[in-house]
Amino acid sequence: MATQITAGSSELRDITKMERIGAHSHVRGLGLDDRLEPRENSQGLVGQGKARKAAGMILKMVQEGRIAGRAILFAGPPSTGKTAIALGMAQNLGQDVPFTMIAASEVFSLSMSKTEALTQAIRRSIGVRIREETEIIEGEVVEIQIDRSLTGATKTGKLTIKSTDMETIYDLGTKMIDALSKEKVLAGDVIIIDKTSGKVSKLGRSFARSRDYDAMGADTKFVQCPEGEIQKRKEVVHTVSLHEIDVINSRTQGFLALFAGDTGEIKPELREQINTKVAEWREEGKAEIIPGVLFIDEVHMLDIECFSFLNRALENELSPLVIMASNRGMSRIRGTNVRSPHGLPVDLLDRVLIVSTRPYSEDEIQQIIQIRCEEEDVTLTPDALNVLTSMAGSTTLRYALNLISCAQMVSRRRKAEKVDVEDLRRVYTYFMDEKRSVQWLKEQQGSLVFEEITTSRGDGENGGAVGDAMET
Ligand SMILES: Nc1ncnc2c1ncn2[C@@H]1O[C@H](COP(=O)(O)OP(=O)(O)OP(=O)(O)O)[C@@H](O)[C@H]1O
Ligand SMILES: [Mg+2]
Repeated sequence: MATQITAGSSELRDITKMERIGAHSHVRGLGLDDRLEPRENSQGLVGQGKARKAAGMILKMVQEGRIAGRAILFAGPPSTGKTAIALGMAQNLGQDVPFTMIAASEVFSLSMSKTEALTQAIRRSIGVRIREETEIIEGEVVEIQIDRSLTGATKTGKLTIKSTDMETIYDLGTKMIDALSKEKVLAGDVIIIDKTSGKVSKLGRSFARSRDYDAMGADTKFVQCPEGEIQKRKEVVHTVSLHEIDVINSRTQGFLALFAGDTGEIKPELREQINTKVAEWREEGKAEIIPGVLFIDEVHMLDIECFSFLNRALENELSPLVIMASNRGMSRIRGTNVRSPHGLPVDLLDRVLIVSTRPYSEDEIQQIIQIRCEEEDVTLTPDALNVLTSMAGSTTLRYALNLISCAQMVSRRRKAEKVDVEDLRRVYTYFMDEKRSVQWLKEQQGSLVFEEITTSRGDGENGGAVGDAMET
């Protein structure tokens, strides 16, 4: 039985995406100028100029549709802005270019195989821009006349609508009347009615009525009365991802699965049918492929099977730009006994363009701290700012950023407006950074429970993960 493949409606988009507020909420873009030169401190990003410029160049190529099926690796020490820069890229991508972010460990789930999880992530990152022609009615409302039956159960009515050239009367059914009253359409409004869906949208009030002051608020928008025909054909464009098309057409789940976020595995035969259909649409000029970006954070957590799958997927015609980030140096490739740069197999590394990030200078750290304080609505005294900056130098940037909100809590307790050095000192004793924690562990030698690390590596997932963690 041939399945009818549909692309769903544009409203379905973005249901599964959620805005996350947190460590990177201050990042609003890459902060580059028109010539793609990085500004020193812009759109929430500071320093790391070379990496930001590289990211900007890649972005430009993505936007021009020139760079699908390639891979980029951000490599550098922890908290040097790899994730932040990738998120900055996402903000600058443009509205209908898909961006998907996963942490590599999300791939290991019980409900689906690793390759299925990767396939879904890849297909989420490929947009299909679909062009459809619909018939619309566009004009200025001259009169709406509604007759209710005695019981009020049925309504009939007439809508008179005009353009600069003509005037037409339409009969209205109950559904249409409800739609018009929901939009609070009055005589003098300029409206569009989509003939297939019956959706009514108000463009504004006609200029001809701009002197009827009674029926409008301060924010009333005035528009010209439309010209020409009242009934027109109009092209609408909407973008969905391949994954959304997969889910909508998978019989077992239906599009409700998009709301639940629980899509399960999708049959390969269905994906093939969809690919064929999309190819057909492309030939007919109805659809266009928009390769987006798949960002895999902590990519060293993938195992050798995932890597070889990725390798192959990158060669596929329908492939997004894959951006990866890793903070590992030489480390073991998960699932093997082989050590390799960044924990990635050499054959994958070979196809990857590597962008490195470097530790920040003291001045840059200070600026980042200031940006975060603004974001979290915290004021530091100048002394506190200096102390926190030097703390970041001796611990890590991330630790220092984490202390900001903790210190604010302490300062509030003593009813102070600003966070001062003493608040920082306090939280510094409450919360340890990694170095002090290791020191503490040494002092406690023997009194904590230690886990034995087995030497047979590369077989079990758990054994592998412990091995990984100890190697860095
Ligand atoms: N150049 C920058 N400008 C502004 N904020 C930054 C910059 N670099 C890092 N940050 C902020 O510092 C924190 C740590 O950076 P991020 O998480 O991007 O590091 P990372 O390189 O991904 O580290 P890891 O390897 O541990 O994942 C985040 O809150 C991030 O938003
Ligand atoms: Mg990161």
